[in-house]
Amino acid sequence: MGNPTVIEHLNGLLADTVVYYYKIHNYHWFVKGHRFKELHETFEGLYENAHQDLDDLAERVLTIGGKPLGTLAECLKQATIAEETEPRDAEAMIRLTLSDLKTRADRVRAAADVSDEHGDRGTTAMLEDLIQRIEKTSWMLESAFGDAG
Ligand SMILES: [Fe+2]
Repeated sequence: MGNPTVIEHLNGLLADTVVYYYKIHNYHWFVKGHRFKELHETFEGLYENAHQDLDDLAERVLTIGGKPLGTLAECLKQATIAEETEPRDAEAMIRLTLSDLKTRADRVRAAADVSDEHGDRGTTAMLEDLIQRIEKTSWMLESAFGDAG
């Protein structure tokens, strides 16, 4: 049985990833402007990555004997990332996505510290891999669209 604190952190990450996943669909659907095609496709890549991440997180919880959040209501309650409720221009979508990626990475780092403290090497390894993937995504998004407008 995994440590309950580690499981709690993994579920927090799952909650953020689920909200982010749908938020990025919102951007994929509603982005407009002269860079539509590029941005539409970029957001598609981002939500596909997030889908893999949320599945990995939930299955890690199961692997260590915990119960992953199974409803959107629970995810919304535990997420630190806010849903998108406003219309946004492309520039704001990029800025907010970069900010959410930073929020996710910070929360993953905190969770990795906790799993490390509890000697859960499998979870720590998985989270360290996730940190690298999020950092790389941030770099690529910033490089491609940091000047978007
Ligand atoms: Fe689509």
